[in-house]
Amino acid sequence: MRCAEYCEVVANRQVATSQFEIQLHSPVVARHAQPGQFVQMRVQSGYEPLFGRPFSVFRTFPERGDFSVIYLVRGTLTQLLAQKRRGDTVFVVGPLGNRFLVRQPAGEVLHVLVAGGVGAPPLYLLAEELVQKGVPRQQVVVVNGARRHDLLVCQEHFAELGVHLWAVTEDGSLGEKGKVTDILKGLSQRGELPSGRCQVYACGPSAMLEAVAKFAQKHDLPCQVSMETMMPCGLGVCLGCAVKVRTSNGIDYKRACVDGPVFDAAEVVWA
Ligand SMILES: Cc1cc2nc3c(=O)[nH]c(=O)nc-3n(C[C@H](O)[C@H](O)[C@H](O)COP(=O)(O)OP(=O)(O)OC[C@H]3O[C@@H](n4cnc5c(N)ncnc54)[C@H](O)[C@@H]3O)c2cc1C
Ligand code: FES
Repeated sequence: MRCAEYCEVVANRQVATSQFEIQLHSPVVARHAQPGQFVQMRVQSGYEPLFGRPFSVFRTFPERGDFSVIYLVRGTLTQLLAQKRRGDTVFVVGPLGNRFLVRQPAGEVLHVLVAGGVGAPPLYLLAEELVQKGVPRQQVVVVNGARRHDLLVCQEHFAELGVHLWAVTEDGSLGEKGKVTDILKGLSQRGELPSGRCQVYACGPSAMLEAVAKFAQKHDLPCQVSMETMMPCGLGVCLGCAVKVRTSNGIDYKRACVDGPVFDAAEVVWA
């Protein structure tokens, strides 16, 4: 089930440098959104921007019919979004796309969630779901990375869940210094990522996803990636979100908005 409607802004607060969490009232999204799914949001000043933009669902509050997303102010739409106040409205279509699949029986595998920047919100929703479904907290490993400490997203929310949490920044301003793949390499060298008992889920910038996918392939770990493509329509119509994939018949293209955004990392052909 999905909505396509104006949703009232419940709150819109700054959570870090250029980052806001906006809470919107939509009982449909609040009840039906799954980890990895997104909403297409439209806010316009005149005709700009013409198209909506995709944002991953971060938190849901089904009892009061609200959900939230975390957004980084980048361009026209997010600048307009940052000006929204309680009681204003935003046009929302969603929830859209597929979700991260938890394939192995809960409790028997290590779930390794790898986040980069604003890729963290859908992985928070997944971590919360795993914990709520009874997966022991020490079997949920979160590697949360960003360029700098002020660009690290959801760190305190992951910490509240009590999962095994790593913070990593490229400049070393918080947590370990380096990239998320450095943490994965360390875990692997210590025998903490056993092949066959490990599932990797990743969301973040394309270069990070490619590096994580290649690491997973090298170490024979199943891996799902949430692709960050442009999505003009979000509904499977415009083909503006094509992802190159490997199929049994050769190379093909899939639409990230309806076939994804979550893909098996092994099927993606990296540019
Ligand atoms: C499935 C999905 C989920 C997403 N979830 C979130 C989220 O939870 N929070 C969040 O902040 N953003 C998220 N994004 C990215 C967000 O949709 C874009 O950043 C959006 O374009 C911002 O709109 P804007 O009008 O402010 O900026 P725009 O004017 O669209 O873009 C500003 C600048 O950012 C660049 N840019 C835009 N989109 C991307 C991208 N995907 N990757 C790299 N560079 C880009 C543009 O080239 C331009 O230079 C998600 C994207 C996808 C595909
Ligand atoms: S965004 Fe238009 S087809 Fe995917």
